[in-house]
Parts: sequence; C-alpha cells; structure tokens
Amino acid sequence: MGAGSEDLPRHIAVIMDGNGRWAKKRLMPRTMGHRAGMSALKRVVKAMVELNIPYLTVFAFSTENWRRPSEEVDYLMNLLVEYLLKELQELHENNIKINILGDYRLLPPRCQTELEAALKKTRNNSGLTFSIALNYGARHEILTAVRKAAAAVASGKMTADTIDEAFFSSLLFTAGLPDPDLLIRTAGEMRISNFLLWQIAYTEIWVTKRLWPDFTKEDLLEAIADYKKRDRRFGGLSRSEAGEKHV
Ligand code: FPP
Repeated sequence: MGAGSEDLPRHIAVIMDGNGRWAKKRLMPRTMGHRAGMSALKRVVKAMVELNIPYLTVFAFSTENWRRPSEEVDYLMNLLVEYLLKELQELHENNIKINILGDYRLLPPRCQTELEAALKKTRNNSGLTFSIALNYGARHEILTAVRKAAAAVASGKMTADTIDEAFFSSLLFTAGLPDPDLLIRTAGEMRISNFLLWQIAYTEIWVTKRLWPDFTKEDLLEAIADYKKRDRRFGGLSRSEAGEKHV
C-alpha cells in the first residue's frame, strides 16, 4: 500500500544540481546557469506555496563550493543578494519564513546584511518555512553538534547517556524543522553530496535527469506523485503487512 493519496510530503529538500551543464549545453558561461537556476527556484517556491506544503529546504552553497573559481563564487553571492533584494517583499507577502542552514557569517558582509534583514522581516510568518543552506556541509553541522554536546557534558549540564536523538537534533542547524520526507536531486547524480546526512535517515529520494534550471512545477508534481506511491516503513512493516500479521 502506498502512502495514501492525501499524504503530501510536509518537508521537501532539494539538491539543485546541473546549472553548469545547462549553461554549457547553450555555450553560455556557468554563471548564466546559476541565473536560470534562480528562476527555477522562484517557480518552486511559488509551487510550494500553492500546494500548501509547509517546509522547503534548498542546497544553495556548500562548504565545498568555495573551491570554485572566485568569479563563480562572487557571482553566486551577488545572485543571492539580488534574489533577496528583489524577492523579499513578495516572499513576506506570501507569509514565507526564511531560514538559513549553515554558517552564513562567513559569507561576504553584503550577503550577511541582506540575509539578516530577510530573517528579521519574515521571522513571525507562519506559512512556508523556506530554508536556504548556505556555506552548509552536513559533516560540519554534525561535528559542531558533537562539540556542543561534549561541552554540555563537560560542564555537567548533561551526562553522556542522556544525549538522545531529540537533544542531538536540537543542536543541528535544522533544530525545530521536521526531517525531510522527500529529497529531490536534479541532473541525475546518485549521491547526497554532504547534505542533511542526519536528517535524511528515512527520507524518500527522487532523482531526475532534468537540469535544475529546467525544473518546473510539473516536475515537482511528478516527484510528489512518485513519493505518494512509496511504501514508507521507517524500518518497520508496511501498513498492509502490519495489518496482516497476527503476533
Ligand atoms: C549546482 O549546479 C548549483 C549550485 C552550486 C548553486 C545553486 C544556486 C542556485 C540555484 C542559484 C539561486 C540560489 C539562490 C539562493 C539565489 P552546478 O554548478 O554544480 O552544475 P553542474 O554540476 O552542471 O556544473
């Protein structure tokens, strides 16, 4: 039995990959792929609001992306500022709450200023929680949480055996967010790329060959339709099996 036709995912996470390939196919600079990727992101945010799905998390810049040529890094940072300057009012009017995953204080000052303005303006909104992973890496996130847990033990606030999943989750950037139900990756690669390693323990993964700048609402609907057919067992039995067992 599938997840049931009414069971939409509550939290969708997206690895927006393929901007470079999209540009290359068109003999354009990679940066144009990122610009087209920004348009795709706008479409997806709009679709999420229309579908009334409460959580969207996107991987916009990883801790490893600093290794790219400085012109590309600069372009991405400027694109983020442009996105926030152009879109913030509309995001706010749509009751969207912006959230950042990752240490954004290592981003250029201009980005920090606009991000802080966006966080402040939207903090009381109660619609879509839109988390943008920026300078984010899951191993770094987990290590940071381990250090905080160790400090809590060292100071006597906790003992090692009282550290449970709920406490550990509260130390992650995603504190307060439900785990993703569905992870979408575009551009066909079958890997996680250091994204939300703790949080995706039971997440359904959907990979499409579609390059991120080409991603549309129809693709999102296809991913959701596929998700609805999945039999989520969380390590237990499927609903139908559980009904059949007499133990
Ligand atoms: C991966 O494509 C994409 C990124 C590293 C950046 C994602 C950024 C955007 C979608 C821009 C808009 C975002 C904001 C928040 C303004 P890639 O460059 O790795 O593509 P490739 O694998 O084909 O080279």
